[in-house]
Amino acid sequence: MMDSHNTGAQAPEFDFILFGATGDLARRKLLPALFDAHAAGSLHPRGRIIALGSQPIEHEAYLAMLDAEVLPALAGNAAASAWQGFLDRIVYLQVDATVESGFDALAELVKARAAAVVVFYLATAPHLFVTICEQLARVGLTGQRSRIVLEKPLGHDLASSEAINAEVARHFAEDQIYRIDHYLGKESVQNLMAVRFGNVLFEPLWRREWVRDVQITIAEELGVERRGNFYDRIGALRDMVQNHLLQLLCMVAMEPPTSLSEDAIRDEKLKILKALKPIRTEEVAEKVVRGQYCRGAAGGDPVPGYSNEPGIAPDSRTETFVAIRAEIANWRWAGVPFYLRTGKRMQSRVAEIVIHFNDVPYSLFPRPLGAAPGNRLVITLQPEESIRLYFLTKQPGDTQALLPASLDLQLNSAAPRVRRIGAYERLLLDVIRGRLGLFVRRDEQAQAWRWVAPILKAWENTTAPPKLYTAGTWGPAASSALLSRDGLAWHEEM
Ligand code: BG6
Repeated sequence: MMDSHNTGAQAPEFDFILFGATGDLARRKLLPALFDAHAAGSLHPRGRIIALGSQPIEHEAYLAMLDAEVLPALAGNAAASAWQGFLDRIVYLQVDATVESGFDALAELVKARAAAVVVFYLATAPHLFVTICEQLARVGLTGQRSRIVLEKPLGHDLASSEAINAEVARHFAEDQIYRIDHYLGKESVQNLMAVRFGNVLFEPLWRREWVRDVQITIAEELGVERRGNFYDRIGALRDMVQNHLLQLLCMVAMEPPTSLSEDAIRDEKLKILKALKPIRTEEVAEKVVRGQYCRGAAGGDPVPGYSNEPGIAPDSRTETFVAIRAEIANWRWAGVPFYLRTGKRMQSRVAEIVIHFNDVPYSLFPRPLGAAPGNRLVITLQPEESIRLYFLTKQPGDTQALLPASLDLQLNSAAPRVRRIGAYERLLLDVIRGRLGLFVRRDEQAQAWRWVAPILKAWENTTAPPKLYTAGTWGPAASSALLSRDGLAWHEEM
């Protein structure tokens, strides 16, 4: 939505150079997304994918690995028929980010063809970003045709993220840098913009006078899986809050931008990040809940606690759950609580944004027993994408009582024949087409780090461990208490 997405329009001829091509992200998300774009005919026929990995394997062995590990997860027969054509686009090259000669070979390969667009996707550990940029500059691959995609988390805190950004900026201009946050590529997040700014209905109500509270949840059923080593150094605040949750909050709270141009939208998001009330270190215990899962169940099967997962220190204090009561200090939102929550090993996989509107000033009708407030807009990102408006209607029959009802804007049924584009597919096509709107600008990223800094500091300095919650639940009891102190409850508890 933010970008007039002309699906079906082919991207220009490109070289897509994937650092970390044997890694988890490449196999689970990036290559399937590129495949989907290929199968849909969205990629230029001569678009090439140069897969880089440090492993000394032959090109054929890499393709065999994709056959075994990527193809089975792709949907249906259509996948099988387009697969060979997709593999024909791929070249595997052994490049170890710390060895110069690999970059010379890469430069030779890329320069021999001079595609219109050269994309470098850094799906590697962030500590390699600077070295990779330096090497790309050394071999002359950072010119105008080049774009670089940086995966999150970029850095560990404000200082380290700014240090990386400053180094990258020595070689690439800001409009060549695509900081990816895949939540911004999700269809329902795009649709939130359409609902807010394409209709007249919501805008007058989208403010403190009419909104009681906003809840944003990203709950996962999975645990840390095979990422223990990585995750234990990161934790949920850096992995999910600093980026995905704050970006969603911006999309809900920002003012109407003056246009759909990339900087108009990013300027408005930045204003929200700046208006977020700082949570002072001494307020952290009251406004932020930090949790870690312990032994429990997932999908009916017993699962270990976080500290018993592979790669995790047994005495780890890394958080796998965070809930925050945030506030935005501006005219539109003053006093409205924004509750943010994310966790691994929660009861179910759900990502949603819930806008609770105020109750009517005085109710003429008997309310349904235990009813939640009448009006709620629920934007579900996962597991299915939907937008649902809850309201109260009359119970049929000889009664005046009200009945909760909802209006569904099921995205699938509103446009049944249109193929759904996955978040990574949309974003990768945007990079190739040179659209920056759904990527995070440096100042936004810095501001988000600035806001989480006191929380990180308070946790570093406290002796209190994270609050334990049983795997397969909605998090520690303190998370419910965060809302019940305001007389409220999380959406699923109503
Ligand atoms: C990633 C996090 O950014 O998002 C992962 O690093 C998390 O820890 C993932 O599992 C969730 O993404 P999605 O799209 O599956 O909700």
